[in-house]
Amino acid sequence: MASGKEQFGGKFAYIMALAGSAIGLGNIWRFPFMVGEHGGAAFIIVYILCSLLISLPIFLSEAVIGKKTGKGAYESLRTLAPGTPWKYLGIVTIIACFVIVSFYCVVGGWSIDYLARSVVGKLGPGTREGAGALFGSVAGSIWETLTAHLIFLGLTALIIFLGVQKGIELFSKISIPLLFVMILVVTVYSLRLPGANAGVEYLLHPDFSKIDASSIAAALGQSFFSMSLGVGMVVTYTSYSRNSNIIEAGSWTAIFDTLFAILAGFAVMPAVFAGDLQPEAGPSLVFETLPYVFGQMAAELPVFSRIVTILFFMSILLAALSSSISLLETTVSHLMERKGMKRGKATLLITLGTWGLGVLCALSFGPLKDFHLFGQTIFGFCDLFASNYLMTLGALAFSIFAGWKMDKIEIESIIGKFFRFMLKWIVPLAIMAIFLSNIFL
Ligand code: PHE
Repeated sequence: MASGKEQFGGKFAYIMALAGSAIGLGNIWRFPFMVGEHGGAAFIIVYILCSLLISLPIFLSEAVIGKKTGKGAYESLRTLAPGTPWKYLGIVTIIACFVIVSFYCVVGGWSIDYLARSVVGKLGPGTREGAGALFGSVAGSIWETLTAHLIFLGLTALIIFLGVQKGIELFSKISIPLLFVMILVVTVYSLRLPGANAGVEYLLHPDFSKIDASSIAAALGQSFFSMSLGVGMVVTYTSYSRNSNIIEAGSWTAIFDTLFAILAGFAVMPAVFAGDLQPEAGPSLVFETLPYVFGQMAAELPVFSRIVTILFFMSILLAALSSSISLLETTVSHLMERKGMKRGKATLLITLGTWGLGVLCALSFGPLKDFHLFGQTIFGFCDLFASNYLMTLGALAFSIFAGWKMDKIEIESIIGKFFRFMLKWIVPLAIMAIFLSNIFL
């Protein structure tokens, strides 16, 4: 019973939902910075190669499982490899989604806070220090950060509660095209700022001498996170669209995701350089640096820069929401499948759980900031543990499962000889290489 019954309306919905999961904070605050740090255009080339040769096969390994069984990761693995420990991979993916969605919603909350502030014109005095202080006070203020977090989580839960077609599908079909339009407007504005050229140079200057083992590992890790691999999301979404062509869907996901990341780079970096600032990765880039730059421009183009600021935070919000719904849905559909629960009850239970962990993550910017786990705040630990370790482990396990455990003839009839070969040999070796280099480099 349960899942497999609800389905996406068609191929377009499936691809938009996948793109929604893929396009997220990773594209906006990590990708532009990594490009600049690791050799500009040279890194973009490596990134595209990693996405096509490693990430796309991993996507296919998850998709082929969902297509075959019509179930989520845990139930699929139990069906395909009964009585073996493979089902524990399903548990790893559920834990990964649960942890990621918990800290992700904290950042999503800030984007609501900043969106509201940009609408009412309360982004601070427009100085560098002012922008830093504002972020500190937003993230550090218990009631403000927790309220914003609750609203974001509530929106995510509402979409999930509405179901696969009326929630996820409808939201993705509207938000993804809108996201591209909005980021394009911000990009055009950014590129026209005086001094923007230095940002273009930072992104495009091809410096092949910066390409080494650690930058390739960085490109691969970024590509996994960005395409939402290794957490069973692709298994779950594909189980809602079993008749779709998965090679086509995976290729579109990679194309939309990379295109959006590059556009976000051109929206963000020219503005950073126009403001004479140093690029940084992480929350401070979007919540400190850019509000400052936009604030500066407000003196010259008050109306226009206000609109661009609103569009910018709106794109962060939509990008974050379409990713967080995919994470929550993966866990909710697991409960529905495993325990036969109704969607409403499963959504409520998971939402309460992620709220609890999310509160701890949120407070690690305030009262809990001195509480450390393995040298990290709770937020930092959740990010590192789930995004680096669990996702990489999940991706490795899915590729081994599809490459080695599933029937050769059957797999090749769906994904072809080339991708099966990649899954069997190249992908696991490449992942082990990044895993080790993440630990040792
Ligand atoms: N791909 C999302 C991003 O780039 C993050 C994500 C990871 C979403 C895993 C779903 C699953 O922000």
